[in-house]
Formats: sequence, C-alpha cells, structure tokens
Amino acid sequence: MNWTVTYLVGVPQLDKDHEVIFEELEKLYYLLKEGGSQEDMLEQALLVRKEARLHFAGEEALMEWLGYHEIDLHIAEHKMLMDQINSLLDEIREGLLPSEKELQSFVEDWLYRHIRDEDMQYARMVEQIQRRSLVG
Ligand SMILES: [Fe+2]
Ligand SMILES: [Fe+2]
Repeated sequence: MNWTVTYLVGVPQLDKDHEVIFEELEKLYYLLKEGGSQEDMLEQALLVRKEARLHFAGEEALMEWLGYHEIDLHIAEHKMLMDQINSLLDEIREGLLPSEKELQSFVEDWLYRHIRDEDMQYARMVEQIQRRSLVG
C-alpha cells in the first residue's frame, strides 16, 4: 500500500486524518493478513473505527459549513463505511477472518474509493473558495 499525493484533498487537518487512518488501516490489514492475535486485531480495528469516527464528524461539519449540496449522500457513505468496520469487528470477535479478497475490497472502499471519488468532491469546493478569497 502506498500513500500518495493523489489522495490529498487540500485541507491540512483532513489530509492528516486520512494519513493516520491509512497508517492504522495498513497495520490492521497486515494483522488480518498474517493472522495476528485476536486481541491485537480487535484493538487495531477499534482504533481504526475511533479515528474514522472523529474524521467523519470533522468532514461532515466542514461540509455543513460549506453548504455542500451532496452532504446527505456523503453522510450516507460514511455510515456505510462504519457499517463495514462494525461487521469486520463482529467477525473478529467471532474468530472469523475475512478472506484476502474481502480484505482488499474493504481497504479499497475505505481508502481509495471514498477519498478519490467522494472526498475529492467537497475538496474541489474548498479549493474554489480558497481561490476566490485570494482573488477577492
Ligand atoms: Fe475523508
Ligand atoms: Fe468522507
């Protein structure tokens, strides 16, 4: 996995959050892939959930402030991602491990797809506002 500038949304705090989530998710990925102890996996998944919950709340507040027109859709996406991590937590608790394929689509959804397709949309709006305030 690689963290690249492609995923920068241009809001320093949110970019930092994404990077933290990326790092924690990467640790979780390897724990699940290499079969770490159940306790470690649980602890790591809870940490990912905690960071994500904080981040989603921050993003949602920013979108509200921006008057972002697709806020409801975005919030629904965040909820879907939270549902995914909650079912992963249930699986770990039950001693079930996701398959490699499930794990990859989880990471793909959580990081790449959501940031690239959804977060980038409000990021563009932030960019326009920044540009306007520079010009004006
Ligand atoms: Fe985000
Ligand atoms: Fe988001």
